[in-house]
Amino acid sequence: STPFVVAVDGPSGSGKSSVSRAVARHLGAGYLDTGAMYRALTWWCLESGVDLGDADAVVAAARELPLAMGADPDEPGVHVGDVDVTEAIRSSQISGRVSTVATIPAVRSELQLQQRDLITVIGDELGSVVAEGRDITTVVAPDADVRLLLTASEDARLRRRTQELHGGTDAESVERTRDEVVRRDRDDSTVSSFLTAADGVSTLDTSDLTFEESVAAAVALVDAAR
Ligand code: C5P
Repeated sequence: STPFVVAVDGPSGSGKSSVSRAVARHLGAGYLDTGAMYRALTWWCLESGVDLGDADAVVAAARELPLAMGADPDEPGVHVGDVDVTEAIRSSQISGRVSTVATIPAVRSELQLQQRDLITVIGDELGSVVAEGRDITTVVAPDADVRLLLTASEDARLRRRTQELHGGTDAESVERTRDEVVRRDRDDSTVSSFLTAADGVSTLDTSDLTFEESVAAAVALVDAAR
């Protein structure tokens, strides 16, 4: 039988990753974090001295990237060659540069191909898969069984990202986070449309929801489609 696919998109701080992982756990599904793939490519370019301004060189790196994505929603490890980059790709250095890589059109088509392959492989193995990113509902898996856009007010997203990055939400930490979040979403939205839902995509606004409430709402949508 064909695998059950759940596609989730949204901006940073929308709760996309944690909600997607909880939905995958609920389904016993595999999990694919496509943002981690753009981050791993960025890490590899910096590591191997590829100039991020040289689009051709970055595309070549994307084609040769020895990437292994773990599909376990409890521990989605990322390896490049035999290096475990799971932690390293979350650094502010990578967050600050990943959009440069992700806005190169030929890089996107290459990673989108790899993402479709991974969705097929994980889905065949586990029967279902939850994939999240910025263009999963629209480009990577527009035929997914469930297509969900997670949104949240800029204020709520900033507070969550600040809590994640700095462990508190005092005014100074919020301001430090603002630049990163606002600029990255602005750059990313020039190549993918994840701020409004495409036709047939359900929107879940998590601004006033707790994590548990967001998961319950997402699970209800998924169960209705099963
Ligand atoms: O989701 P996360 O914040 O980890 O994504 C990191 C970056 O990867 C985004 O800022 C964006 O530049 C890129 N990305 C993308 N398309 C996706 C997922 C992520 O362009 N489907």
